Amino acid sequence: MTASPITIAITGAAGQIGYALLPRLAMGEVSGCDRPIILKLLEIPPALPALQGVRMEIDDLGSPLVQKIVCTSDVEEAFGDASIIFLVGSKPRGKGMLRKDLIRENGPIFVGQGKAIGKVASKDVKVLVVGNPCNTNGLIAMHNASDVPTSSWSAMTRLDHNRALAQLAGKSGRPNGAVDRVTIWGNHSATQYPDFVHATIDGKPVTEIITDRAWLEGDFIETVQERGKAIIDARGLSSAMSAASAAIDHMKSWLGKTPEDSWSSAAIRSDGSYAVPEGLISSFPVRYDGEGNGRVVTGLEMDAFSQGKLQATINELISERDTVKDLLPG
Ligand code: NAD
Ligand code: LMR
Repeated sequence: MTASPITIAITGAAGQIGYALLPRLAMGEVSGCDRPIILKLLEIPPALPALQGVRMEIDDLGSPLVQKIVCTSDVEEAFGDASIIFLVGSKPRGKGMLRKDLIRENGPIFVGQGKAIGKVASKDVKVLVVGNPCNTNGLIAMHNASDVPTSSWSAMTRLDHNRALAQLAGKSGRPNGAVDRVTIWGNHSATQYPDFVHATIDGKPVTEIITDRAWLEGDFIETVQERGKAIIDARGLSSAMSAASAAIDHMKSWLGKTPEDSWSSAAIRSDGSYAVPEGLISSFPVRYDGEGNGRVVTGLEMDAFSQGKLQATINELISERDTVKDLLPG
């Protein structure tokens, strides 16, 4: 194996999502099966003993790729030279809570982590914020990371994207792979807009295949918006397996090339497209160019229904941004 190693950092690595994410990273699912990996695992001090257990399990995977594992509670040690960073570590919501109820507790975590990424991470770092409320936590980290290009930042709506795709496949009786061009717009919250208008099944508009418009505008959207809550109600814990899988999907898309006629959903810094205020971290339809650059897919016509749904979720993002303005320098 001659390729140079890639450093991948994961925060909250002893948590649920970390546990589901790590074996897949260790086997090269994101970085490829011929590239050595240095894993940097960050935890808060009380979780370091548990992290040692996770580390032993990574050793026991016998991965041919993992060259070194660093377990630490020091942010700069964790992010040093990292090219790929998953910011997972933060508190999950419990039953009866909204994701934005976590904002004042989790938001400050992303101040110090953003600063550390700006100071020590690789210059071409790609950061995915998973910890909730992920759009606004991503905004906080981005604002605190001087010298890191704004294109390095993203927050995870790929799980919502996959949920939407599975709902449309289930309703139509077609396989998941037949569904394309789903978009999650806006916030990873109950205001998000899972857009069926532009989605396709077997290359045809979803609205031609699923003619039950009331279901599309009602149950479909609500099921995707509330799926995280449904999982917490059923499991007593928030989604982890599907969240880790979506994080892998997100990074693979970012490192790969999206087919010209397709796209996926990711929350990235708005460049003002679709009248989303510039600078917000909002979910959009995104296409990747094969060189690590993601661009919003432009030119989609937004009908009045879509426009109304988009505006509602953007209003929420603006209000979250206002709640944390003391954490947003610059
Ligand atoms: P968890 O409680 O199982 O694990 C979180 C881990 O983070 C814990 O081990 C904790 O010790 C650690 N942690 C807390 N503060 C930290 C800090 N400052 N630095 C480093 N580590 C820290 O939670 P989980 O189920 O893994 O979920 C993690 C986060 O991901 C939650 O905020 C959850 O709501 C969010 N989430 C987001 C999505 C999404 O689609 N964006 C999906 C699922 C979960
Ligand atoms: C999810 O969507 O499953 C996560 O954001 C966890 C949650 O709080 O819903």
